[in-house]
Amino acid sequence: MKQLNQKKFLWGTATASHQVESGNFYNDWWLWEKEGKIKTGDSAHPSCEHNLRYKEDFYLIKFLNNNSYRFSIEWSKIEKEEGVFDENEIEHYLNMLKEMKIRDIEPILTLHHFTIPQWLYHKGGFENPEFPEYFSKFVSKVVPYYKELANYWITINEPVIVALMGYIFGDWPPGIKNRKRAFSVLKNLAFAHAQAYDIIKEKKKDSLVSIAHNLMIFKPATWNPLDYMVCHLLDSWFNMAFLKTITEGRIYSPIGKKEFHPELKNKLDYIGVNYYTRSFFKFGIRGFAEYKRKNVPRSDFGFEIYPEGLYEVLMRLKPFGLPVMITENGMADKKDLYRPDFLKTSLKSVSRAIKEGVDILGYMHWSLMDNFEWVEGYSKKFGLLETDFKTQERKPRGSAYLYQKASLINPNTDSFDF
Ligand code: FCB
Repeated sequence: MKQLNQKKFLWGTATASHQVESGNFYNDWWLWEKEGKIKTGDSAHPSCEHNLRYKEDFYLIKFLNNNSYRFSIEWSKIEKEEGVFDENEIEHYLNMLKEMKIRDIEPILTLHHFTIPQWLYHKGGFENPEFPEYFSKFVSKVVPYYKELANYWITINEPVIVALMGYIFGDWPPGIKNRKRAFSVLKNLAFAHAQAYDIIKEKKKDSLVSIAHNLMIFKPATWNPLDYMVCHLLDSWFNMAFLKTITEGRIYSPIGKKEFHPELKNKLDYIGVNYYTRSFFKFGIRGFAEYKRKNVPRSDFGFEIYPEGLYEVLMRLKPFGLPVMITENGMADKKDLYRPDFLKTSLKSVSRAIKEGVDILGYMHWSLMDNFEWVEGYSKKFGLLETDFKTQERKPRGSAYLYQKASLINPNTDSFDF
């Protein structure tokens, strides 16, 4: 197993620019919102005003005893017009990084978290064959500013979710329902990642670069072998295809037909994992269908609460032989009824995987505070801190105190006593 020179276990939370900042008027999600596509009618502006209040938020990060923080920079603010880079916006994120450095908070910098600039959206967005080049230009521009202060990078957050939500379900921009187009988006994202990886490594050799990849557990609804087959296929499409593509350099199905592209090979230094839930599936006339089990505990989002699954996905990744970072894990639970136990079991899952030989760099809880949950607006509360969107006050939920204690432990050497 490739071991990184890791002194400490990284404890942190994760956020994304569009979900926590005010003033995001220049991306595709703002257009989507203007078209009335947010279920609750909420607006992403001003959200948590994290761009104005980040110093206070860093204070809260320290209050949680965290030594790390995953955040994203907003491409559409930095490059509002094609090829025109806003130095003030670049500087803003640099200031954030400096403030993190002062406080000994290790940044995990996400370059792309779902949103794209409107000018690119109007040019076909993720489907534009030149998407990787547009992204590369942005990445080449910003990396030199941030490289002294950032060691850990995430190029793209959840490429599979981008394709699924925007091009298969059509619930997210650009609202397309076409599998073929979704797969071409995934291919573009694989090349965009690989190019960004090379740019970051070229500008700073010892950077650690990954994607944040959403992994889900697929379970058969019955003993029927066809249900097993469906789950096996879903696992290979949803969980494995993208990861294999950017490590082996072969474009796996359904993204492609195993064509070999050496420029896609070995493009992960570690694997960023976003884990939320498991789902049951069965074979059906349309190929497959989700089977919603009754009487199982569910989050406010309707996801089954299954924190044991974190152990399962971590073990699923072991064969890659790469270190892993949990880049997101959490649940929507306004009343914080289930989150404490969810958190405990999730962290025990981490411990268990470490004991069984998975090299784990850190754990980022989603999220630091309640924020704008995409088409769900503010209705889904993922925060360890509760956000009062009228006063901008952040109030720790019970889970925050639990996380504060957990964050003092190094799971590589100690166990959790809860
Ligand atoms: C993940 C996203 C993140 C947030 C959580 C709840 O899929 O990366 O932005 O919406 O889900």
